Amino acid sequence: MDFKVASAAIHEEIQLATISKSPLELYEPVNYILSLGGKRMRPMLVLMGSYLFSNDWQTAVKPSLAVELFHNFTLMHDDIMDDAPLRRGKPTVHTKWDGNTAILSGDAMMIKAYDFLDDLPAENYKKAVQLFNKTAVEVCEGQQYDMNFETREDVSEVEYLEMIRLKTAVLLGFSLELGALLGGANEADCQAIYQFGEDIGIGFQLKDDILDVYGDSAQFGKQVGGDILANKKTFLLIEALEKANTQQRSLLTYWLTRDSFDPQEKVDAVTAIYNEIGVKKLAEEKMNAYFEKGFQGLANIDIDEERKANLKAFSIDILNRIK
Ligand code: IPE
Ligand code: IPE
Ligand code: MG
Ligand code: MG
Ligand code: MG
Repeated sequence: MDFKVASAAIHEEIQLATISKSPLELYEPVNYILSLGGKRMRPMLVLMGSYLFSNDWQTAVKPSLAVELFHNFTLMHDDIMDDAPLRRGKPTVHTKWDGNTAILSGDAMMIKAYDFLDDLPAENYKKAVQLFNKTAVEVCEGQQYDMNFETREDVSEVEYLEMIRLKTAVLLGFSLELGALLGGANEADCQAIYQFGEDIGIGFQLKDDILDVYGDSAQFGKQVGGDILANKKTFLLIEALEKANTQQRSLLTYWLTRDSFDPQEKVDAVTAIYNEIGVKKLAEEKMNAYFEKGFQGLANIDIDEERKANLKAFSIDILNRIK
């Protein structure tokens, strides 16, 4: 599978997904968020999952868009929930238009996602929709935990890991599993590749939390410090709260409980405590451990070594991402 050719095929299919219908107010934001690009990592995982078991990755291109549309729907709603101003370097839909627009355009995109599975053979269709629905509800569960945790200071590492497994990792697992299913993999291989996706998905969200503090906004395309402003219980914050000395803990609590503040001052103050405690390194170690767990699982799947190596290389790019 030529990576560039596959990526161009995804791009072309997304162009075809442009909706030129009325009402414009509903579809313009859908076209807008899809036109902003993004890494298109999930559809690529679908294709790579399929190519592990079959030479014909092309038939997976259209179904792979189901995942990308669903992902973009979650981003549109997530940005309302997180009060985020920037997405992929551009204004978020709810700031460019308004909250109601982002809700309804997001809904339409989520429903449209299923159209991309239409051409699947009946036996794959049923299984794909079942897995898709299971995953979609889990993402909602994860998002709810993420919101619940904003107002708690006693979130444990175990609770955090389960929250990110749900909100983020299951969709990476599903992407690979969908590809594997389309490639004709057996049940055991489907599950093994799903598990690989979930493991690197947890690593991926840990990296996202790191970039939210330590990324370069111009590259990352999102507001740096957004998680700190929203009191998100990221791995960084949980570790900081756990390892803080008395003075650091009272400072953290001060910033977590203040209602009005200068945003930059809060981001700088909390980042300074993170730096003192050294939580970035701890998060990177955790991230690496999840990628390593994933790679071990991948190594145990009995499939073509070269294709596995391709997927591993792609995953390492995800691990090293700056955006
Ligand atoms: C952002 O996902 C949401 C998370 C789960 C962290 P991506 O980082 O894949 O976003 P795009 O699609 O590349 O913009
Ligand atoms: C991503 O969590 C989870 C979903 C979008 C479902 P984040 O809130 O960290 O994602 P970003 O950082 O806004 O992309
Ligand atoms: Mg967000
Ligand atoms: Mg969020
Ligand atoms: Mg984030």
